[in-house]
Amino acid sequence: MSKQVKNKIKWVGKVDWELKHFHGDEFKTDRGSSYNSYLIEDEKTVLIDTAWLPFDKEFVSNLKKEIDLNKIDYIIALHGEVDHSGALVELMREIPNVPIYCTANGIKSIKGQYHKDWNFVTVKTGDTLNIGENTLTFIEAPMLHWPDTMFAYMDKEKVLFSSDGFGQHLASEHLFADEVDEAVLYQEALKYYANILAPFGMIATKKINDILAMNLEIETICPSHGLIWRKNPTQIIKKYLEWANNYQENQITIIYDTMWNGTKTMANEIAKGIQEVDKDVTIKIMNSSKDDKTDILTEVFKSKTILVGSPTVNNGILYSVAGILEMIKGMKLKNKKAASFGTYGWSGEGTKIIEEELKKAGFELVTEGFKNMWNPDENMKQKCIEFGKEICK
Ligand code: FEO
Repeated sequence: MSKQVKNKIKWVGKVDWELKHFHGDEFKTDRGSSYNSYLIEDEKTVLIDTAWLPFDKEFVSNLKKEIDLNKIDYIIALHGEVDHSGALVELMREIPNVPIYCTANGIKSIKGQYHKDWNFVTVKTGDTLNIGENTLTFIEAPMLHWPDTMFAYMDKEKVLFSSDGFGQHLASEHLFADEVDEAVLYQEALKYYANILAPFGMIATKKINDILAMNLEIETICPSHGLIWRKNPTQIIKKYLEWANNYQENQITIIYDTMWNGTKTMANEIAKGIQEVDKDVTIKIMNSSKDDKTDILTEVFKSKTILVGSPTVNNGILYSVAGILEMIKGMKLKNKKAASFGTYGWSGEGTKIIEEELKKAGFELVTEGFKNMWNPDENMKQKCIEFGKEICK
């Protein structure tokens, strides 16, 4: 079922209420998502993006109810990832000669996935496509978040189609951001930014500033996931500039895994010490083998400091801690502090291994790793509290 976005624009995408994991198992999407596709009916008819591969037949069948497919003059592929290009094969079976407008990297990514030699038209920043009353201007946005990504601006309708930028994994019966709970909306927008776009913060800042310098009148931002920004769309642009600028809140996140609860006890005692010194700081304690990695990364993104703990096991650390450190490294965060902790029985390399990984991830170590032989007794619990206090200072 289509929904009207603006005068000449309809949403013809797919709301995926059941989606619980995205990018394989990388991103937990407990609120579902949507694959937004837009149909523009000006003098020319334009389709922007499609839907994820499992919905290809449903997408094309629904599109046929909206329009005779032969009326589509142009397809625009803002980004080649399968969640937006997945229905192309099914669609192009019906209209094989319709030109597909995308970046040079877009051709590579689409060809690389579908191995089809469709009628591609390469566009770059500043190229335009007149479709009647409106003209579309293309704006390359490489690495936001793939090299192939681009945005498109529709002038008379004053709409920016922003691909994955400004999106959220949030399924909704509504179409617009101003129709849903604002707290949930921003929670999902931040989670999306932290998990997908955080490594590209500097690129995002530059691209947003480039777009602002173009003085485009933007009334509506149509992302490729989640809700459309209709009311005060600059709100999400401002948020992105804030998030891309080494964002942090007054938060310390303690991440640990544990074998016999020794490292868990340390985590909880350290938290007490932090709270004794700073009553205002938000403390999150997360078990990397129990809490979801998407949520952990979101909390790391919000933190000024993280503490990472693991017992030493077989001269190494627990795999869930190693895994989360690998993911944190990928976020390429700056201006954040860290320290390590953990229990051990004999060799005790765990804290050093964590420290090395934290350094590689770009964190500044505030103190030497804090380790405890065997399970913490009352004396060691007090030392954990003192360690927490020291972290705060
Ligand atoms: Fe929503 Fe990068 O695909």
